[in-house]
Amino acid sequence: MYAITIPDPGGPEALVWAEVPDPEPGEGEVLVDVVASAVNRADLLQRQGFYDPPPGAPPYPGLECSGRISALGPGVSGWSVGDEVCALLSGGGYAHRVAVPAGQLLPVPRGVDLVEAAALPEVAATVWSNVFMIAHLRPGETLLVHGGASGIGTMAVQLAKAVGARVAVTASGQQKLERCRELGADVLINYREQDFVEELRTATDGTGADVILDIVGAKYLSRNVDALAVNGRLAIIGLQGGTKAELDLGKLLGKRAAVMATSLRGRPLDEKAAIIAAVREHVWPLIESGRVRPIVDRTLPMREAAQAHRVVEASEHVGKVVLVV
Ligand SMILES: NC(=O)c1ccc[n+]([C@@H]2O[C@H](COP(=O)([O-])OP(=O)(O)OC[C@H]3O[C@@H](n4cnc5c(N)ncnc54)[C@H](OP(=O)(O)O)[C@@H]3O)[C@@H](O)[C@H]2O)c1
Repeated sequence: MYAITIPDPGGPEALVWAEVPDPEPGEGEVLVDVVASAVNRADLLQRQGFYDPPPGAPPYPGLECSGRISALGPGVSGWSVGDEVCALLSGGGYAHRVAVPAGQLLPVPRGVDLVEAAALPEVAATVWSNVFMIAHLRPGETLLVHGGASGIGTMAVQLAKAVGARVAVTASGQQKLERCRELGADVLINYREQDFVEELRTATDGTGADVILDIVGAKYLSRNVDALAVNGRLAIIGLQGGTKAELDLGKLLGKRAAVMATSLRGRPLDEKAAIIAAVREHVWPLIESGRVRPIVDRTLPMREAAQAHRVVEASEHVGKVVLVV
């Protein structure tokens, strides 16, 4: 089969479409003939040599895919050859075929086509696990989403609105903020021109955000804690603004607030399976009812993955960039 390989990590040109050995489905795995995959920001780091796949994962990039099951490994039940699926992966989505633990498979939601379905698993699993399973966002609470127009952000806005929360977003410009408004965002903050702490305080009558989904990390840590409400929960999932910062524990203590940080890719199989089961139970019905949808900025042929990486690197997109085999 062919896959996007990274013989020499670096810029987008480091991605090379090359012939590689076919994967074999192991115990508890199925083989998926990939129809589409989608670009995640983490793929850019992997391409640059800064984010190695966890042990046992395929070496090729691609944290999600959609396609058809072409073989079942030993011990798999509940899935059949020919089923149309999408899947959360630890890698290997940028390829003709990938072996997937059965616990990470999802049926393609009714009303979503097979290509669009590739844009769903990573953002649905990340947002559901962090915002709802860990930070317990409740109806009527306020969620601040940094990078509201990102792949993650567009899913977070829709899911939070669907469960009856109020949503504030940050983005770099008016066009992206308008897209967030179309998805349901209530408070729009241009982080280049406005102070998100002040804007959020004004929008919440001084209360602040009950939950913050953060992708910036160190650079925003102190201001994120300032922006939290009493009993607030800060979920850090990205470190685009660095890894090391000082935290005033007095501020946290005074607010009885919590800071948490997680990474989906390195979680054990059973934790990923539990998240996927929760996504199927809670997120899939919202997608099938049309209240939440995949936001696909554009699709490109998989062999043009380098161009897709350039788009994402320049942050030209809103939602997801999808790669079609
Ligand atoms: N921990 C996990 O399990 C996990 C899983 C998936 C994703 N992630 C992380 O989540 C983040 C988003 O991933 P993605 O694939 O959705 O990426 P993406 O679509 O490329 O989006 C990146 C976003 O970051 C925003 N951004 C950059 N600097 C910002 C700032 N100072 N303030 C607010 N927003 C800022 C950009 O917005 P503008 O263009 O408006 O600047 C852009 O929309 C990445 O950091 C990724 O590593 C973590």
